[in-house]
Amino acid sequence: MTSRLDAIMWPVRTPRLVLRPAAAADAESVWQYRRLEEVSRWLTAAPEDLDGFRRHFEDPARLAKTLLVEHDGTVIGDLMVAFEDAWAQAEVAEQAAGVQAELGWCLAPGRQGRGYAFEAVDALIGICFESLGLRRVLASCFADNEASWRLMERLGMRRELYAVRDSLHRSGEWLDGMGYALLAEEWRGGSPARGADTDAQASIASASTS
Ligand SMILES: CC(C)(COP(=O)(O)OP(=O)(O)OC[C@H]1O[C@@H](n2cnc3c(N)ncnc32)[C@H](O)[C@@H]1OP(=O)(O)O)[C@@H](O)C(=O)NCCC(=O)NCCS
Repeated sequence: MTSRLDAIMWPVRTPRLVLRPAAAADAESVWQYRRLEEVSRWLTAAPEDLDGFRRHFEDPARLAKTLLVEHDGTVIGDLMVAFEDAWAQAEVAEQAAGVQAELGWCLAPGRQGRGYAFEAVDALIGICFESLGLRRVLASCFADNEASWRLMERLGMRRELYAVRDSLHRSGEWLDGMGYALLAEEWRGGSPARGADTDAQASIASASTS
């Protein structure tokens, strides 16, 4: 399955990490941390065993939007980038096709608390805006997932939605949800928190902006 991510020259290197597209053979490495309850409790899907996870992970549509985060040659996390259309009125819908992406992230618990998620997602946002020419990135989480929304705030994303009990958790409980977003022009405005990652940017192919 082709993906707009094919336009990027992988792997992309950040000061401490390597980002690359996921492959079916990575299922077991990713399962090592996604099987943990403290991780899966926040995720959309929580397969019960490795076979179930493989079926979920190896789905071509899912693989096409999954990147892996490596540190010292070990898979320590994964990212999602799902390209989508912006909402538009019918007459201008074509101009809104594929202009934004929903992002997601997951890091092995033993690797959290060191800024790796920030570093990886920051690079991914750079790819989305600077190489792929997107106009907006967005992400959502349960309001109770403080680690996730704090990451979004560190990245400079704006809280645009706080929805009361709109999201059904597999526990059966309706939980509050939050939505964040960032526009390309805000990214270009720059942020002192953002690591100057010229090496990573240099390794990104000059991709089409369509
Ligand atoms: C959401 C998630 C990726 C956040 O990971 P994280 O490690 O907290 O995020 P960061 O990489 O930005 O690390 C930030 C922490 O590292 C610390 N840190 C240490 N060294 C750092 C450095 N060099 N640079 C930046 N931060 C650093 C920060 O102070 C911060 O700690 P704090 O939270 O105690 O303030 C992680 O909690 C996770 O994978 N959760 C399970 C899956 C999940 O919920 N996914 C999202 C579903 S919506």
